[in-house]
Amino acid sequence: MLTRRQFAIGSVAMTSAGIIGRQVEEARATHFNTPLPIPRLVDAANQGNSVSLKIASGRHAFVKGKPVRTYGYSAPILGPVVRMRRGDEIEMMVENALDTVTTVHWHGLLVPGDCDGGPQQLIHPSDRWRPVLKIDQPAATLWFHPHPHHDTARQIYMGLTGMIIIDDGTDARLDLPRTFGTDDLPLILQDRSFASDGSIEYETDGLDIVYGARGDTVIVNGVIAPVAKVPPGLVRLRLLNAANAQNFVLRFSDQRTFHVIASDGGFLPAPVAITQLRLSPSERFEILVNFADANAVALETGPDEEMGIFGRLAPDGSADYVPVMRFETTTTTPLVKEMPTRLVQFSTASHASAVRRRQFIVNSGICMDRTQAGEHTAMVALTGINGRTFDPERIDVETSLGTSEVWEVVSAGMAHPFHIHGALFRILSIAGAPPPPHLAGWKDVVLVEDKVELLVAFNRPATREHPFMYHCHILEHEEAGLMGQYVCA
Ligand code: C2O
Ligand code: CU
Repeated sequence: MLTRRQFAIGSVAMTSAGIIGRQVEEARATHFNTPLPIPRLVDAANQGNSVSLKIASGRHAFVKGKPVRTYGYSAPILGPVVRMRRGDEIEMMVENALDTVTTVHWHGLLVPGDCDGGPQQLIHPSDRWRPVLKIDQPAATLWFHPHPHHDTARQIYMGLTGMIIIDDGTDARLDLPRTFGTDDLPLILQDRSFASDGSIEYETDGLDIVYGARGDTVIVNGVIAPVAKVPPGLVRLRLLNAANAQNFVLRFSDQRTFHVIASDGGFLPAPVAITQLRLSPSERFEILVNFADANAVALETGPDEEMGIFGRLAPDGSADYVPVMRFETTTTTPLVKEMPTRLVQFSTASHASAVRRRQFIVNSGICMDRTQAGEHTAMVALTGINGRTFDPERIDVETSLGTSEVWEVVSAGMAHPFHIHGALFRILSIAGAPPPPHLAGWKDVVLVEDKVELLVAFNRPATREHPFMYHCHILEHEEAGLMGQYVCA
């Protein structure tokens, strides 16, 4: 049997992809000469809290001189970074100029089910959707993306991803790096495979359906191997894994220590020193990196250990780290040099506050359900969550507004990034042990390798017409039905 890498290399060799292959190879391995594109910042408050997003196809050259078809939000690819202030009400004016149906889901935003943008909230071609988003949650880095069932994976792959920054005044109070595009940089990490003409048209084969679609080239903010020029001081990186399936295992080439200050749902109590950070699909972390030494350094990603031989991005298929982008310092005066020692006040998460406990067994069908091993013969695959695939007509869970529950999530077979809409959670345990400090804050997605216990806080309503989703954020698994719906009243 071919490994996934051999399979990819084999198919490249069989087509006349040599030239594009070399260009991709050169761009990512040697040059690092494309300046990191910074998405346009849309500060909602500066435009009367009304924000337009036009969803349309565009053209974008991943490989120099080879523009190809992409999708974007008011941009050829990706979309703006929308800054929203806590306490504001923001009218989103979304227009679908694609020739296909879509939705816009605000991933991580705490809004009622009827403006969450889930699979029921279809925006048909040339239609508009105008939800009013009431912003009431702590500062955080969120994102938005399509969610139409059976076309989410393709639409995100084609470029539909935007970022949201919630500002509640903490940045200024703590004097954190916050000058967008200078010492506060959005980094949208994805992986893609390029066809011989440089295109990224989404196709899946059997392996993609089992393991999720994985490319062989990392892109950051839509480009291969960019370089960012940063001031020689503290720089904040807002990391978003917007890949369909790949886990990124990030470190710097000199293995310098950096500090995690926030996870999906907002700030941690204090910066957490770390040298390597794993991001699973849809996860966000904000990190502070000190560039005061003025050394150029690369950001690298290592093999996705969850995927064994299938998770390797190194061109030779080895288990090495590959450079993703490069940082060089400018000679400007740094805006921020000191890191605060404390960030925000935090309560400890405990089982005691939960009103009930539920179990979710997530199985993509590559293994038999080990929790039922006694009752079933080997190799019985129970694809879905608790053995059921997504059914838009079925409500799987009913929760009560203002309560917390313990959700125990078990992965059968492979690791699944489990995401819950409309709620934030704290991780109580990972494989029976307390979470490491950088995973102890508020989150909306968690990579479940074995078993986790989550304390989920339900604070937003969702009806049967507009329920919230919970699902695996490997998009090919979500499409295959690893998704359920809950109401909250
Ligand atoms: Cu990132 Cu159901 O979404
Ligand atoms: Cu999955």
